[in-house]
Amino acid sequence: MGILDNLGQIKKLDSANMLQNLMDFPDQIEAAWQSAEKLALPTHYLKIKNVVILGMGGSAIGGDLCVGLSLYNSKVPIIIHRDYDLPAFVDHDSLVIAVSYSGNTEETVSGFQAAGEKGAKMLAISSGGDLAPICRKYRAPLLEINYGAQPRAALGYLLTPILGILSRLGILAISRGEIETAIQLLKGLDSKIRPEVPTAKNIAKQLANKLYDRIAIIIGSGALKVAARRWKTQINENAKSAVWAEELPELCHNFIVGLDFPKRLKDKIFVVVLQSKYDHPRNKIRQSVVFQILQQKSIPYEPILMHPSDSALDEMLSAIYLGDYVSYYLAIANGLDPTPIKSIELLKERLAGTK
Ligand code: F6R
Repeated sequence: MGILDNLGQIKKLDSANMLQNLMDFPDQIEAAWQSAEKLALPTHYLKIKNVVILGMGGSAIGGDLCVGLSLYNSKVPIIIHRDYDLPAFVDHDSLVIAVSYSGNTEETVSGFQAAGEKGAKMLAISSGGDLAPICRKYRAPLLEINYGAQPRAALGYLLTPILGILSRLGILAISRGEIETAIQLLKGLDSKIRPEVPTAKNIAKQLANKLYDRIAIIIGSGALKVAARRWKTQINENAKSAVWAEELPELCHNFIVGLDFPKRLKDKIFVVVLQSKYDHPRNKIRQSVVFQILQQKSIPYEPILMHPSDSALDEMLSAIYLGDYVSYYLAIANGLDPTPIKSIELLKERLAGTK
């Protein structure tokens, strides 16, 4: 029996029980949607001309997802800002949403402070930290998270409130019914890929085995670009592995000519292509040409067609959920506890010491 089917070994390695957070994902979405419905929003927030979401790492992915969805159904521009300060266009007609699990991430705090100084409309999603006093100072709503997990393992709490709040403000059109459908879909997926399901029937375990000891290249297009990025960050943080995310159609203009060196590249990488029925028809053709190129170069790859669903949101969430499990199993296959992120902690400590 391989380690991925050894439940005792998985439990032993996963000292902080990240598995429970993974299994909670659909329930996190449910609870966070309810909190977003209850949050008091100032009425003048209904008049905004653009939205800037601030966040880093695990706290930024929900913003990415909203940006991805907004391309299909929002007339108001939404951008994600992963940096210090703010873009110059932000003014009192902007809504600036800070998302930080800890509330202490200095890039996010700096942008949120700047939003107050510029007179922008503001809102934070956080457990508190340094964002809380800024909310009090500028009378900005704070949606408090109280979950107790790594930020990346609390995605439901970081992402769903943005969807709920932007829908209430008429910027995105996501209904409670769509969220309920997504939750059911995720529960169904969970039952197929959780640890009790043996490798022979478990696509997440099979993928982790394929990525083992290789550099993963995750490709997505359209709505699934976000999912590819989440796979990358989760494989980095959980499995402590090198991985890159690429997107279509952009990769057809560079990536495909960069596959000849180093000479033994084919023995070192594994390409995963996330596919959706919503992919642009031209990108579907591009995918098949990319597969031919990979075959010619003997580079292993796997297309994964997301279970056909009725919305881009469902496909994004399913692709993200599958990737979260793959990264978890890859950590276990690497013989590692998925939770600790020593280098990130060290970096934050060093920066805090320079203030
Ligand atoms: C840790 C994680 C990190 C953090 C990031 C920002 O699990 O995912 O990427 O999310 O360092 O910290 P927060 O989320 O506290 O703003």
